[in-house]
Amino acid sequence: MTQPTIPQVKTSEELKGQDEEYRTACEKLVISHAVNELYGAQVFDEPAIALAPTPYAKWLTCRVAMEEYGHHVRFKQLGEEMGIPAEKMSPQEKRPLSIFEFPLKTWAEFCAIKLLADLAEILQVEDLVQCSFHPLRNLARMTMPEERFHAQFGKDFSAELCETEEGKAALQDAINRYFPMLPAFFGRPKSRNNEIFRKWGIKVRTNEEMRDDYLRRAKEVVEELGLTLPEVEQAA
Ligand SMILES: [Fe+2]
Ligand SMILES: [Fe+2]
Repeated sequence: MTQPTIPQVKTSEELKGQDEEYRTACEKLVISHAVNELYGAQVFDEPAIALAPTPYAKWLTCRVAMEEYGHHVRFKQLGEEMGIPAEKMSPQEKRPLSIFEFPLKTWAEFCAIKLLADLAEILQVEDLVQCSFHPLRNLARMTMPEERFHAQFGKDFSAELCETEEGKAALQDAINRYFPMLPAFFGRPKSRNNEIFRKWGIKVRTNEEMRDDYLRRAKEVVEELGLTLPEVEQAA
């Protein structure tokens, strides 16, 4: 594949004059974020407010839910600026990621989700902070501190659960059931989409590199809590 000169696209207006492959790639990413941030807030963060065990935990969970809805709002606004029709940014049109199919029922499960899924999101956002489409880069930079707060929330409440044997066992059980869904979040190895993202300087790393880095970082945070990660199948 011939390497194009990587553009530096400063506004959504400038995007309109870019190569179609570049525009489509940027649109795909914005649609995916708009849909998944909304869906995640609806199936995990908002219901978790009712599961939170104390007023303090409820207050912080409200903040997490507010921020996840806020991520959707920002990505959707960017999509509108780019001229993406609203229906293309809805879960009816674009299927949400499989990581949201986990049926959330307990507080320990929500802690496992914030601990592990938001770490996965941090890796995705890290990959966008140098993005050649600057409005997306700016959104990634704005979103990053909030995603870090969500992962820290996951760590702090996980540590609190680990103070009792019962809480620790519930969290380990939640991790055992949820973690195997996460490696798929990074996409297939040798993905054509990822190749296009890297070709145009929209993303930096391959799906395999991101997934391997994720597995390493997830193992570290889980072992810090005195827990273990279940074995997951390595994608070929
Ligand atoms: Fe988010
Ligand atoms: Fe988050």
